[in-house]
Amino acid sequence: RIAGPSVLVLFGVTGDLSRKKLLPAIYDLANRGLLPPGFGLVGFARRDWADQDFAQVAHDAVRTYSRTPFREDVWRQLSEGFRFVPGELHDDEAFDALARSVRELDAVRGTGGNYAFYLSLPPKLFPTVLTQLKRCGLAQSTGDSWRRVVIEKPFGHDLASAQELNAIVDDVFPPHEVFRIDHYLGKETVQNLLALRFANTLFEPIWNRSYIDHVQITMAEDIGVGGRAGYYDGIGAARDVIQNHLLQLLALVAMEEPLSFTADAIRAEKVKALSAVRLPEDLATGTARGQYAAGWQGGARVVGYLEEEGISPDSTTETYAAVKLGVNTRRWAGVPFYLRTGKRLGRRVTEVALIFQRTANQVFDHVVTEEQGANSLVIRIQPDEGVTLRFGSKVPGPTMEVRDVSMDFSYGASFTEASPEAYERLILDVLIGDPPLFPRQEEVELSWRILDPIEEFWAKSGRPEPYEAGTWGPRSGHELLARDGRQWRRP
Ligand code: BG6
Repeated sequence: RIAGPSVLVLFGVTGDLSRKKLLPAIYDLANRGLLPPGFGLVGFARRDWADQDFAQVAHDAVRTYSRTPFREDVWRQLSEGFRFVPGELHDDEAFDALARSVRELDAVRGTGGNYAFYLSLPPKLFPTVLTQLKRCGLAQSTGDSWRRVVIEKPFGHDLASAQELNAIVDDVFPPHEVFRIDHYLGKETVQNLLALRFANTLFEPIWNRSYIDHVQITMAEDIGVGGRAGYYDGIGAARDVIQNHLLQLLALVAMEEPLSFTADAIRAEKVKALSAVRLPEDLATGTARGQYAAGWQGGARVVGYLEEEGISPDSTTETYAAVKLGVNTRRWAGVPFYLRTGKRLGRRVTEVALIFQRTANQVFDHVVTEEQGANSLVIRIQPDEGVTLRFGSKVPGPTMEVRDVSMDFSYGASFTEASPEAYERLILDVLIGDPPLFPRQEEVELSWRILDPIEEFWAKSGRPEPYEAGTWGPRSGHELLARDGRQWRRP
């Protein structure tokens, strides 16, 4: 799978995402031989840069963040296809210049009129860009060529705004040319969830309510809001990651086997799973939210959310969110799915844990395990990628003492190649036109249908509960499980 000749036009090229992820991913793709010689990259931003300045910025980003070693010949070949167009998004002339630049590059590099437009911008700017692309003729394909648009989350901030946004996108690009990025789907370990379930016989027979007691999906970060106050404040943890990454993980865990690994077949199953999601009857006890206060992390004192630069001192934005969801299908009825995410938590870890029911009868007296005899299967999404199976084992010695042990699969030990960064895979798939790893609008809307009532409830329920930075979240987050006689795993 190698991309065909094409131009990628990058909006928001001066942003963090471009510098840390997109530009390095483009270089890594080139370095792995996955981009054709006929590839061009056009940056557009409000900077007074020449092509050379842009290439220099990209060079620095690549040297700092790319995963593969730097090779001068690869870089030279790639960067000869870099162009930069300065301008404002509402300026017709700037877009006319962009169109000229793309076409000139097309002629020089032989990109066949295939253009992808990557909107790494705040969503409020999407309408302007889309209208401009249509106006200057770049959005319309001719002959066999294609035109695609890539949009980064958040896809709206609730159901209504997601639908509005979609109507605007829909007006310019046909649905099969719209690629919505949820970068979690680009992670190897997330894709491996499907391989684990459907390429093996071992797991699927017990992947249901007869064996599983509950599911825990955790995405914990140790970082705070950092320089992203402008985006994050008013959005919060649930809209930032539960609506997309965590509900996508839930869908992959809960869905039935797709008929094939095509976008339509996978989407059909994810849509069924998301449609079956049920909220807790009482949102006060079935959800929790918190906001980090000052504390210690990695041996350093860190400030609380309200003291962070750019955050309003009376902000009620949550930096921790947990919800208990049900999935009303024959497979899952009665099995709670607990989802949690937060910034400034104990450590950075994302995992999906299936906690199994205890044996009906315990014949051993000495069961000394943290999990109290509950087996678990933990899919370690990051950073220590792999899968762990926890089960009881006799402790060597004169008594029949049983303790939990781990059987481990770790990527590092089993595969020699380091996993590609999620954005590499996703950019490649955009250029190839391969859609299975991109959520469709229907999934986006279903996720907002799940989240909207929770957000409405929270909007009326005062301040989020403070939690000390570096801990595992507010008391209400622990109570959410304790009420059900359960507890969060300590990853
Ligand atoms: C992004 C969120 O989607 O994911 C960020 O907007 C979060 O708030 C990031 O930090 C985490 O991504 P990863 O790949 O490091 O888990």
